[in-house]
Amino acid sequence: MGGAVRVRVTLERVSHRFFPGTPRETVALEGVDLELAPGEFLALVGCTGSGKTTLLRHLNAQLRPTAGRVRWDGKALPADAVRRRVALAEQFPEDALFADTVAEDVAFGPRNLGLSAPQVADRVRRALARVGLGEEHARRSPFALSGGERRRAALAGVLAMEPELVCLDEPTAGLDWRGCGEVLELLARLNREEGVGVVLVTHRMEEALRFAHRVALLRSGRLVLAGDPETVLARPDLLRRCGLEVPPVVRVQELLIRRGLALASPALDAAAAAQRILRALEVG
Ligand SMILES: Nc1ncnc2c1ncn2[C@@H]1O[C@H](COP(=O)(O)OP(=O)(O)O)[C@@H](O)[C@H]1O
Ligand SMILES: [Mg+2]
Repeated sequence: MGGAVRVRVTLERVSHRFFPGTPRETVALEGVDLELAPGEFLALVGCTGSGKTTLLRHLNAQLRPTAGRVRWDGKALPADAVRRRVALAEQFPEDALFADTVAEDVAFGPRNLGLSAPQVADRVRRALARVGLGEEHARRSPFALSGGERRRAALAGVLAMEPELVCLDEPTAGLDWRGCGEVLELLARLNREEGVGVVLVTHRMEEALRFAHRVALLRSGRLVLAGDPETVLARPDLLRRCGLEVPPVVRVQELLIRRGLALASPALDAAAAAQRILRALEVG
């Protein structure tokens, strides 16, 4: 699937105001410029209320900018055309599971695309395999699954639409560490092996830095930084000002630098960090 077409999404000076011109007016996004390259894995981070969900909803045209514009491969598109290419997994997507079996639930989207029964069955099988669920899960009620399995079943329903870009709103929220790992690994695999673009909304810096190619940082509706994980890791001060937690391994290196240790930029991987610290201590 390496040669498949993947969409490029461009946000130009995008602003979004809820209830404009009323006392309840809220500026959720302000002048956001951001381009998502085809097949990119982007993490969108920021604290609660920073505009992550609002931005995500612009990517699949669920919301339209109140100023500025969004382009898909350089074009304005109607919402239904966008949604065939860009899928959005809302927060706690498993709350919307409704069918008697997991397979039926996953089949819902592809069936609505007007695919034939064998095509739908094929999509369901593939989507469940992508999220690591097998035949034995497919036949069960969604409610008979564990929390992590239920989340993955819901994500299978989104992936069964075979989008070019999948946008996920806090897909690890409320899962234990194992559940989080499974979800993040499946997104990484989907991106690496099938070239599907991923936008991951999270407030956990560690997830963003470990899995994304690029991290976009939102604060009060403004994009304050977008760069590769190395670039973002080098700005722990900015992360804190955005209300984000700096991973402990980065914090240790930051404090050592402040105390005069000649470290280059911090590493996220603990072993790599230890190695850099050792080298710097041995030299000094
Ligand atoms: N449907 C809505 N109606 C009114 N205000 C909203 C709505 N959705 C979000 N907001 C406001 O927009 C701002 C950004 O919210 P949101 O995009 O949900 O942030 P995040 O996902 O980062 O927590 C917040 O001030 C929030 O209260
Ligand atoms: Mg949100």
